[in-house]
Amino acid sequence: MQKKAYFQGDFGVELAEMAGKVNETLADVMGRGEDIHQELKYAMNYTLTAPGKRIRAAVVMWTCKVIAGQVTKAAQTAAAAVEMVHTYSLVHDDLPAMDDDDIRRGLATCHKEFGEAEAILTGDALLTMAFEILASDVEDDSTAKRMIVTLARAAGSTGMIAGQMADFKGEDTEGDLQLLEYIHTNKTAKMFAAATTMGGIAGGANDEQILKLYNFGLGIGLGFQIADDILDMSASSEDLGKTAGKDATAGKITYPSVVGLDKSKQILGKITEDAVAALEEFGPEADILRQLAVELLNRTR
Ligand code: IPE
Ligand code: IPE
Ligand code: MG
Ligand code: MG
Ligand code: MG
Repeated sequence: MQKKAYFQGDFGVELAEMAGKVNETLADVMGRGEDIHQELKYAMNYTLTAPGKRIRAAVVMWTCKVIAGQVTKAAQTAAAAVEMVHTYSLVHDDLPAMDDDDIRRGLATCHKEFGEAEAILTGDALLTMAFEILASDVEDDSTAKRMIVTLARAAGSTGMIAGQMADFKGEDTEGDLQLLEYIHTNKTAKMFAAATTMGGIAGGANDEQILKLYNFGLGIGLGFQIADDILDMSASSEDLGKTAGKDATAGKITYPSVVGLDKSKQILGKITEDAVAALEEFGPEADILRQLAVELLNRTR
């Protein structure tokens, strides 16, 4: 798939605006947490304020804007909740018992900075708080409930945790494309599908629209992890803000290790095309999401 321009504005500026919004919401939420244990709060803030790309949070808010024409308050809360769950997943993914990584978002990983037990607890706290803010800050109860179920299914044993388990169990095994698709869909793509779905819910999308948004999210999410595999073997640690070349050392099943680099790029292109096609019935207001798909395809970090 070629680098095609769907969105007429400056994509980087749009992403920075969404990153700013979620950073504000996260600061507000953490600022209200006066009862949080002080050292725990410090570690939570350390990981949350590290320079992540904020892609999933932006996806929530852009999707809401596609449907409702604006980023609602519920979408901002949902974006913060998704970013909290994502950040927790990175803290735990980096633990010595998991991927054993030293650098994350250009900084020392949480366990390197604060210790292993502290990092486990920091992850626990972020995960729990994500659901607390959805329950308490999303004003409409039925909207909150739908968001909570969506995020729980994507993050838990039918989603990210299942993928992380399969990823771990797959280390040093041969693996095949079917297993890879299972791992990547669960550990990464379902969180992207939750992001589009929650944005859709915030914007008042109907069931038919939600299904299309879910499929778009799943597609770009699968593509996101394929790109992550490719970047792990081809980009520098400096550009990535995390240690490059770790997948091969750890014996991970990745797209490049199973089907090679060229075929991985080909699959990524096709998945991105299909994802964009899922948005066919949405008008030009969805161009920002189409552009996102292209940007993720060509990302370098
Ligand atoms: C890293 O996600 C984990 C994967 C699912 C590949 P990101 O690349 O979005 O990490 P941050 O949030 O920008 O640090
Ligand atoms: C992580 O996949 C997916 C998560 C659910 C956190 P990776 O292990 O490939 O992510 P990185 O490369 O450490 O960011
Ligand atoms: Mg991992
Ligand atoms: Mg990892
Ligand atoms: Mg990786």
